[in-house]
Amino acid sequence: MIETTNNTLTDPYGRKIEYVRLSVTDQCDLRCFYCMPKGFKDYTEPENWLRFDEIERVINAFSELGTKRVRITGGEPLVRKNLPELVSRLNQITGIKDLSLSTNATRLSKHADALQIAGISRINVSLDTLQADKFKRITGGKLDKVMNGIMTAKRVGFHPIKINMVAMRGINDDEIEDMVAFCLEHDFTLRFIETMPMGNTGLEATNNYLDLKLVKQQIAESYELIPGTMPGGGPARYSQVAGTNLRIGFITPISQHFCETCNRVRLAVDGTLYMCLGQEDKFELRPLLRKGISDDELKQAIQYAITLKPERHEFNENPSQIIRFMSLTGG
Ligand code: GTP
Ligand code: 5AD
Ligand code: SF4
Repeated sequence: MIETTNNTLTDPYGRKIEYVRLSVTDQCDLRCFYCMPKGFKDYTEPENWLRFDEIERVINAFSELGTKRVRITGGEPLVRKNLPELVSRLNQITGIKDLSLSTNATRLSKHADALQIAGISRINVSLDTLQADKFKRITGGKLDKVMNGIMTAKRVGFHPIKINMVAMRGINDDEIEDMVAFCLEHDFTLRFIETMPMGNTGLEATNNYLDLKLVKQQIAESYELIPGTMPGGGPARYSQVAGTNLRIGFITPISQHFCETCNRVRLAVDGTLYMCLGQEDKFELRPLLRKGISDDELKQAIQYAITLKPERHEFNENPSQIIRFMSLTGG
């Protein structure tokens, strides 16, 4: 194992790693067809979930190595019991300046208040359609619950709220303008995402792949788009609708990948650090944590793990290489 020589994490390609996506569960209460197969139940056993004290230790070590941003994901993170308690523990780690949540919003109306008090500063919500019947077809769930969740988050005062829409040809490409109008009305930020071949469901979903250049062109026919910026740690490239506050982000892993600026790693619920969304390179922290390693050894282990980070995904060159389901690593 290598020595801890400084307090930053730089990968073999010179990229600074300062953003941890923390998956607190691999379970989800929806079944988006592009993400997880119907009836899927092969979840991580509870004894293999990192406990809150273990997660806190790992995030603390990351923060001492320069991580400033932590995004809580899943599966659906609000499926994990007592999430606000974890949030408030992570919020006390001094180096963490940006503690955010990505959710499907089904349980947000119940938890938005507690999450805000605990220290979540920003929320991103998955929402692919504004039509209840289509929502049911895509996710198996109920749109009104999600809308309640989103509106509660707005009322509680979360800002910005970013809406993530996976753009799919023949499925929701007829709703691009409706979604723009919805986000304009509510002062939300809108982001489009290209489908990625993750797991066999994601591979199937790429039949509906839609190049976001076309989405941008379509929006530009009705609205004047100017270059935009938006606080955040992720890969979206933004435009702004002139004369409004609306920012529209384009997340283009397929048509224009962003791996050269990658700043993140993913911690799965079982304590596996995944180095890239689109590759299998990983390092397991749980056995070390449960063996009782010291804080210094933990930092060294993380530094070693970062040396395993690959240069980029190969979704285009090798789309049928089956990468784990998105629900395991949290998008
Ligand atoms: P901000 O800090 O608000 O910019 O958040 P974010 O965009 O990093 O987080 P979010 O969870 O909203 O991510 C949105 C989607 O972007 C994910 O569901 C993925 O589809 C995609 N994404 C995020 N990070 C990566 C990445 O490292 N690689 C790839 N290929 N896609 C990513
Ligand atoms: N392609 C692109 N994004 C995906 N997500 C899940 N599966 C895929 C996929 N195959 C992302 C979406 C969704 C979040 C939960 O995970 O952004 O909003
Ligand atoms: Fe980083 Fe991998 Fe995502 Fe590329 S695909 S941006 S290398 S995590």
